[in-house]
Amino acid sequence: MDHRPGQSAARDDRFRLGLVGAGRMGRTHLDAIKTLHGVSVEAVAEPREEARAALVHDGVRTFESLEEMLGHCELDGLLVAAPTGVHLETVRRAMAAGLPVLCEKPCGLTVAEATECAKVTEEAGGTLQVAYWRRFVPRLQELRARIARGELGDILAVDCQQWDASPPPVEFRAGSGGILVDMGVHEFDQVRWLTGQEFGPVKVAVSRVGASAGDPDCAQIVAELDGGSTAAVSLGRWHPAGDSCKVEVFGTRATESIWFLEPVTGDAVFLEALRRQVEDFARSVSSGEGSGATVTDAVEALKVAEMAGEAVSEAS
Ligand SMILES: NC(=O)c1ccc[n+]([C@@H]2O[C@H](COP(=O)([O-])OP(=O)(O)OC[C@H]3O[C@@H](n4cnc5c(N)ncnc54)[C@H](O)[C@@H]3O)[C@@H](O)[C@H]2O)c1
Repeated sequence: MDHRPGQSAARDDRFRLGLVGAGRMGRTHLDAIKTLHGVSVEAVAEPREEARAALVHDGVRTFESLEEMLGHCELDGLLVAAPTGVHLETVRRAMAAGLPVLCEKPCGLTVAEATECAKVTEEAGGTLQVAYWRRFVPRLQELRARIARGELGDILAVDCQQWDASPPPVEFRAGSGGILVDMGVHEFDQVRWLTGQEFGPVKVAVSRVGASAGDPDCAQIVAELDGGSTAAVSLGRWHPAGDSCKVEVFGTRATESIWFLEPVTGDAVFLEALRRQVEDFARSVSSGEGSGATVTDAVEALKVAEMAGEAVSEAS
């Protein structure tokens, strides 16, 4: 069976995805993609019987493993929403099968795993995009363009807040890399993408309220950026009104504040960004031109998370 994208796409205009993992995020991707005409989820690999059974009305073929799915389906790419701890082995298998991958963040638990993802992708001459969905939020794209045009002047500070409605399930949390990896990478990538600057050393304060197995429920990170700006990132797992994400950029000519994920309207913003992201991935596979995060971006975001983790260890 040949899984290379060009051949099958010629017979059918839709870009046919195999989804790996149908938990919280995999289901959200399914919801987003089902309204698209140009991209479809053809099959799902999911080891949990209960999760497969929940897909019965979605009209997708389900398989117990990636291996089984690859053996039975012609696909144009994989969307990986399996736990972070299996990102590397999934990317490796996909590259061996010649399949492009859109991998959920962080693309491995550590810098070493993400670097290995980059290596296997390069050796295979494959495509690996990392799902940093903020890059597909129109208001943030506009903010980035304004910063690049100098409309905010010199950037003094980028302040980001990500507060989840409530902590994730304990089992998820145990394999997530903790708050700095699981949540922090979104903000680290967003700061890099908005400003074009890299993080210098970071300082971190973590709350002692509500920690689970050593993983804090709140972390506050501050950093100098290599272009002379500063970043402040606020992460928290308790925002009872609903998930919330904000960014505020302070420049010498203007300040811009965007509450881009609000508790009431956030789902629609999130789903729309996921749709734009997967369409961009399909486009990048066919044309080689995509605007999503690369695996190099994923490595950089994880480097900041690891620096932050070391700062916490040194302080305690
Ligand atoms: N972009 C975002 O905003 C966002 C939000 C949530 C989660 N995520 C990412 O998505 C990934 C999944 O998170 P989640 O919250 O959906 O977790 P989850 O635990 O709810 O779901 C993961 C699913 O993958 C399945 N699975 C386990 N091993 C597998 C394998 N080898 N092959 C296929 N499926 C496998 C599990 O049975 C489970 O159903 C994580 O990497 C997480 O960081 C991203």
